[in-house]
Amino acid sequence: MLCCKRKLYQVAAACTCAFTLMMILSYLWTQRHSLQPKITTQEGNLCRGESANNTITAIKDTNTFIIAPYFDNRKSKITRVIGIVHHEKVKDLFCLFCCQPNGEIYVSKAAIDVHSDRFGFPYGAADLLCSEPQNCDPNFVSINWDPKGNIDQLPRFEIKNRKAEIFPVEFTVCISTMFGNYNNVLQFIQSIEMYKILGAQKVIIYKNSCSKLMEKALEFYIAEGTIELIPWPITSYFNVSSYWHFSQDTKDIGYYGQITALNDCIYRNMYRSKFVLLNDIDEIILPFKHPDWKIMMSSLQEQNPGAGIFLFENHIFPITLYDSTDIFNITSWNAVPGVNILQHIHREPDRKNVFNPKKMIVDPRKVVQTSVHSILHAYGDSVNVPIDVALVYHCRKPIQEKLPRESLIRDTTVWRYNSSLIMNVNNVLQKTVF
Ligand SMILES: *[C@@H]1O[C@H](CO)[C@@H](O)[C@H](O)[C@H]1NC(C)=O
Ligand SMILES: *[C@@H]1O[C@H](CO)[C@@H](O)[C@H](O)[C@H]1NC(C)=O
Ligand SMILES: *[C@@H]1O[C@H](CO)[C@@H](O)[C@H](O)[C@H]1NC(C)=O
Ligand SMILES: *[C@@H]1O[C@H](CO)[C@@H](O)[C@H](O)[C@H]1NC(C)=O
Repeated sequence: MLCCKRKLYQVAAACTCAFTLMMILSYLWTQRHSLQPKITTQEGNLCRGESANNTITAIKDTNTFIIAPYFDNRKSKITRVIGIVHHEKVKDLFCLFCCQPNGEIYVSKAAIDVHSDRFGFPYGAADLLCSEPQNCDPNFVSINWDPKGNIDQLPRFEIKNRKAEIFPVEFTVCISTMFGNYNNVLQFIQSIEMYKILGAQKVIIYKNSCSKLMEKALEFYIAEGTIELIPWPITSYFNVSSYWHFSQDTKDIGYYGQITALNDCIYRNMYRSKFVLLNDIDEIILPFKHPDWKIMMSSLQEQNPGAGIFLFENHIFPITLYDSTDIFNITSWNAVPGVNILQHIHREPDRKNVFNPKKMIVDPRKVVQTSVHSILHAYGDSVNVPIDVALVYHCRKPIQEKLPRESLIRDTTVWRYNSSLIMNVNNVLQKTVF
């Protein structure tokens, strides 16, 4: 009897011990891993972390780089932080919000959504999605691997789009990245003037590097209010590839971080612009049936209610092929570095079994994540715009190099705009290059 009683005691003690240990462990585990946001007060806190001032900010020890946070209440009340992460080495991340005036800290764990279009590179665009406090609308957020980090010691990022402006602008063109000491000045000015003729009020440029002469043209357009320049020092943080796929070039991130820039551009202009165009500087979405984008888009929207994404076929106009008439070989322009688009009016024919890539005009409020030639996640439908309505005039090196001249299609649509284009370009050249 006695022996059994002692055994019983031993078992009970062991059980109590194990139970207590379990409770402690589970308490510690929930402390670390709880998905429930928590409100704490850090003594003496005044929400006074230093503002992050650069377009790209590295978050220490996390393989994470922050571009900017945006308020997004289209599905629920969240902060969506656009960033770049290492798809494997990224750590758990927390959003620390500071609520004024009491200095309450609200911490929520970020859901990390690495965009699917990484194209094999180790680093890619990502959204860090953080639930926001219900009882306050914070203007700043800090990102950290440690939810208990001192918020005053962390850089803080302004949460943009908190107040929805109502479209001061109709069309904004997002040009992803300017790099490689860019110096195609004549084509650049022609493209900007074409965008303006077609209806753009704003052009956003993520600038990595360009020539001195190009700087002058940029300064002119910034002063005019057409261009918003976003410094894009991606090469200070990564070994970047100038190719789009990892198999072509085993670097950290593809094509100067173009995809991250485009996503940032969508959110940056979500409430500032009715439409956003996503294309490169050597591309112009050129309407056939309508005189400009505004009339074209109201017609396309009427025919496609509920659509938010309009896809236009890319067509190559090789810079190696000149028109025999040579009527737009303007003597004074020969002194300006770069391509004169008015001289290139032949396009390559479609290839068998090869899709023409698309470029886009979108309603940014319907976009969640964008890629370069399509939208990854959206709240509206995508529409393929037929080539008799518009195409992407893409003036660059040929893709089908060996084609005889007769196989190319003469297409003078860009000439329709010749008189205003020539006048506007001369005006800009007078004030910048000459
Ligand atoms: C950002 O700029 C502000 C104002 O110029 C300055 O007070 C702050 O220290 C800067 N932040 C960083 C991280 O350098
Ligand atoms: C780029 O790669 C080299 C080694 O190949 C490395 O030393 C350097 O730090 C890298 N630069 C950046 C910005 O990551
Ligand atoms: C344009 O005109 C100049 C002379 O003004 C000539 O040298 C040049 O070859 C012409 N370019 C083309 C592509 O015909
Ligand atoms: C240039 O534009 C004017 C109208 O602005 C037009 O009449 C003329 O035909 C155009 N030139 C060419 C060669 O298309």
